[in-house]
Amino acid sequence: MPNQYLSRRVAGLKPSGIRKFFDIAATMKDVISLGIGEPDFTTPEPILQAGIRSLQRGETHYTSNYGIIELRRALAFHLEKHYGVRYNPDNEIIITVGGSEALNLAAIALLNPGDEVLIPSPCFVSYQAGVILAGGVAVEAPCRMENNFDIDPDQLRAAITPRTKAILIGFPNNPTGAVASRENLLEVAKMAEEHDLIVISDEIYDRLVYGVKHVCFPAIPGAHDRTLLLGGFSKDYAMTGWRIGYAAGPEHLIKGLLRVHQYMVMSAPTMSQAAALEALLKGEPHVQQMVAEYDRRRNLIVSGLNQIGLPTFEPRGAFYAFPKVDVTGLDDETFCNRLLEEEHVAIVPGNSFGLGGEGFARCSYATGYDQLEEALERIERFVGKI
Ligand SMILES: Cc1ncc(COP(=O)(O)O)c(C=O)c1O
Repeated sequence: MPNQYLSRRVAGLKPSGIRKFFDIAATMKDVISLGIGEPDFTTPEPILQAGIRSLQRGETHYTSNYGIIELRRALAFHLEKHYGVRYNPDNEIIITVGGSEALNLAAIALLNPGDEVLIPSPCFVSYQAGVILAGGVAVEAPCRMENNFDIDPDQLRAAITPRTKAILIGFPNNPTGAVASRENLLEVAKMAEEHDLIVISDEIYDRLVYGVKHVCFPAIPGAHDRTLLLGGFSKDYAMTGWRIGYAAGPEHLIKGLLRVHQYMVMSAPTMSQAAALEALLKGEPHVQQMVAEYDRRRNLIVSGLNQIGLPTFEPRGAFYAFPKVDVTGLDDETFCNRLLEEEHVAIVPGNSFGLGGEGFARCSYATGYDQLEEALERIERFVGKI
């Protein structure tokens, strides 16, 4: 059947480049996948048990639309403790179905048709889609390897128009692993103030940083009152399947998100809220263990890729390496397709993540050390054949 019944918004969306690779990889034996953006760890045991206990207590009902107050309180405490940002748990935090829902709520709650959202890219594939589905226009401002894939304030400033409503930033970054410098974040805050923009800051990888301190955007002077902070438990606590995240911001904005959330999902999964509470209360040692292991793998893959001759910037956050693959003479799409076909290693072409991603590829190191070693051998063999 042709697509005539689908809305133009949906019919016009590009299918995710990541999905395409998984579909091909799923048909092959012995594939090593560095394609997926999720922790290979199972959720730490105490967190698992808290979810199970919640179910056993019969907590199988809806919760408050905002989410359980214990979780909101713990989150407010956590954000203040780590970053010095303050939110009132009563009305400035909403618990969502993953960071994904938080992103969509923000877009729907903020955007009128045709409103523009500036997005430093390459970025998480759902940013552009979330904006488009909400009727907005995604305007990308590319980040460059020469600048450590940090935000380029000049590019952003140059892209501001009278239709610009918001800036959507995501650091530590998927797919580059970049963290944003405090200096550039200050510039973003200034720009937002000058042009009366809202900043949506997706900080879902906030705890996964290596040798640097995460700068929480609303902690930047002047930023708090015009920022929606998005976060979640999927990455930091290895909880992707629980579908639990949050948004925090000034009451008047959170009220808008709540209105959408009430009609769309009512409340985040109840057992997942109990598990997320445990993650905040008891998860720290587990986070530290996972970060130490990611760091070991990060060192392996970054030096391995560089040695193979694929220039790779040193990522300081998340769990991705982003080598420049077009130095081989192949574009990113061809490189990844052939690597998958010839050596059965799945990585994702950089162009899937928007402008600035072309010529690169995303390799997730949220996979076992041995697998990474084997993948590097195969990549080396492949590059040798080109
Ligand atoms: C930057 C970023 N934000 C948000 C998400 C959404 O995560 P979830 O909906 O599992 O919380 C992801 C997942 O890949 C991500 O990479």
